[in-house]
Parts: sequence; structure tokens; C-alpha cells
Amino acid sequence: MKPIEIAKGIYDVGVNDWNISDFHGYSTPFGTSYNAFLIVDEKVALLDTVKAGFTDELFYNISKIIDPKKSDLVVSNHTEMDHSGSLARVMHRIGQDKPVYCSKLGQKNLGMHFRQKLNLQAVTSGQELSLGKRTLSFLETRMVHWPDSMFTYVKEDKILFSSDGFGQHYAGWEKFDDQIGDAIMPHAKKYFANILMLYAPLLKKLVQKVTDLGLEIDMICPDHGIIWRKDPGKIIDAYVRWSNQEAKKKAIVLYDTMWHSTEMMANAIATGIGAAGVEVRPMYLRKWHRSDIMTEVLDAKAVVVGSPTLNNNLFPTLADILTYMKGLKPKDKIGAAFGSYGWSGEAVKLIEQELTAMKFDLVEPGLRVQYVPGDEHLDACQEFGRKIGEAVVKSF
Ligand code: FEO
Repeated sequence: MKPIEIAKGIYDVGVNDWNISDFHGYSTPFGTSYNAFLIVDEKVALLDTVKAGFTDELFYNISKIIDPKKSDLVVSNHTEMDHSGSLARVMHRIGQDKPVYCSKLGQKNLGMHFRQKLNLQAVTSGQELSLGKRTLSFLETRMVHWPDSMFTYVKEDKILFSSDGFGQHYAGWEKFDDQIGDAIMPHAKKYFANILMLYAPLLKKLVQKVTDLGLEIDMICPDHGIIWRKDPGKIIDAYVRWSNQEAKKKAIVLYDTMWHSTEMMANAIATGIGAAGVEVRPMYLRKWHRSDIMTEVLDAKAVVVGSPTLNNNLFPTLADILTYMKGLKPKDKIGAAFGSYGWSGEAVKLIEQELTAMKFDLVEPGLRVQYVPGDEHLDACQEFGRKIGEAVVKSF
């Protein structure tokens, strides 16, 4: 089947990876896609490649349009190997001397990924490259998602090729936002929360820069998931909200448990938070994947964390989620810690240290229960939750 022509002479030659379920620690139950785009003009340009292992499918797609050897150049918007993994084979096939346009850091980073000689041509923001009837303009977008990242804009078609920006880990029959509708937004939110949250300040500046440049955008083509052609403003608006880490009146209660005591506490705390009129969900760490938890953290105002004490320490699942969360730099959260213990009971203090390191506002002192909670302890947990819920409401 011929690849989809997304605009006259511009084709999506990328591939769906239906079976990937873990993308460097991020759960991808719907798989993902590695989008790549072919622009057929007086010169033929391939924008990005695909992950190694899918190179033959990329060649197959290109060959439905032209002989891959007729490609004149490649643009590498991002060095990460889900987009560059096929680069060496592509260059071998189309001609080793043909240019690969990339950012200055892309030139450096691609050089450290591919040790064979490639004709890497560094471009800078604002630089243009004529393909004939069309012009490629480059915009460096450092840390969206790596230091080398850049966008490529085609002004004649008003298309922004945004690499990881505005993407979603989603493989489906749908290729465009109008085909899937709002059902794509949770995937876009999860992608932002797990890939881009820590770069939120840079994204705010980037969205402002794109606005200041006055780029007219009819279509946004990310390197993962669907293409935004009906309403590109929708994902841009969502990025503004997510970059500001705008929270809702919402709390999550993360916990693990050994003999259900910390679980009993978690459920009672969630009941108390809910009684204060705050949306709340207890999230058991052996049920919820860390990447789904981070998606909830993005717009939660309060993150309440519970762990039993195991070997004078946190439960290992807590160490996992707290390390992951700290790296993604959630901002302006209310936090609190709780947990059951047998004799030493260090876990609550250790959680508080982690929450403090993330600059969470600890509105209540940590709550501990020895062994199994009784009625009075569960009442105290509900009260603890109610106070946290009230602090959430007060913060709006
Ligand atoms: Fe889709 Fe940062 O790679």
C-alpha cells in the first residue's frame, strides 16, 4: 500500500511498532510509531528515520513513492535511536556522501552514535534550505527531548515537523487527530508527563518563541503517534497548560503494603481527602505502572505517599517511583507521608526527605501506625486525609 500523502508531495513513510510495551521504562500498551516523512520536490528530503529493526519497512514505504536512492538529503531532527537507528543503513543505501542536516549538537551526538563517516551538516535556528518549490527552516529546540533536538518547518505548506514535541506513544489505524478525536489526549498527556515534564520551563519558552516568530501552522507532524491537522492549536494549548503544571483539585495516594496495614491507611486517607471535596485515587504501586502514576501526578495538587518499613528502609517500589518522580521535577505540589511499621519505622521520615528534596509543601507531619491499624488509627488517617484535602482546596 502506498504511504499516506499528508500534503501534496509530502508522505508519511514511518512505521507502527505495535508490539513495544516498554519504551525505556515507560509503559506503552498501545505500542508506538516512529514517524518519518518524505518530501518530494526538486530535491527529495527524508525527515528522520526509524528505529533499527524497522529499516526494511521504511525502505518499503519510500520505494512505493520513489527509488530510495533518489533521496538527496536527510534531516535528523533528533539523535535518539528511535529516530536515528536506521540512519547508517539509509545513508549506505542512498549514498554515503549525501548530506544529513542536523543541529550543531546533533552533529556532535550523531558522530558519537555512528562511528562511520557521515556527511553531517550543522544548521542553526532560522537557517533555510531550499528543496525547489519548498523551503525547510530549522528551529533548535534544545531538550525537546535531547540537547540536539530541532524542529523543521515548511513555510509553503505551513507544516511543523516537531520530532518528539507534541508526540504520543500510540500505534493505531488512525493517522490524524480528526480520526481519533479526544481519545488521543490521554496518550499525549502521558507522553508529556513522562518525557517532557522536567523540561517544562524550556517548553514554555519554546511555545512563546514559536508564537513570537508568527509561524502559521496548519499541521504538526510529530515523530510519534498521530498528526495534528484538524486542530493543531489544541495540542499547543495543552502544552501551555502542562508546561505550567496547572493542577486540579486532585490528589493521589501512592503506596505499597506488606500485610495490608499501609493499604488500610491509604484507603482511609483517600476517604478523608474525598470528604474534603477533592478528587482522589489510591494507587497501589504493584498495580499501577510508574509512567501511569506520573501522568496522574502532572495535574494532581497533592501527592501523598505511603510505605511500610522494610529492613530499616523504604519498600523498593517506593524507591523506584520516588527516584523516577524526582527526575521529572513536578512543581508546586502538596505532599505528605504515611506508613505502618513493626519496630523501627524509618520509612515515613525517608519519604519526607524525598518529598522535601522535590520542594513539596508538607502540610501535615508524617503519620505512622505500628503493626495493624485499629479503628482509632483509621479515624486518624481519615482526619489526616481531610486536612490534606482542605489544604488542596485552600490552594486554589
Ligand atoms: Fe522519540 Fe527522544 O526520542
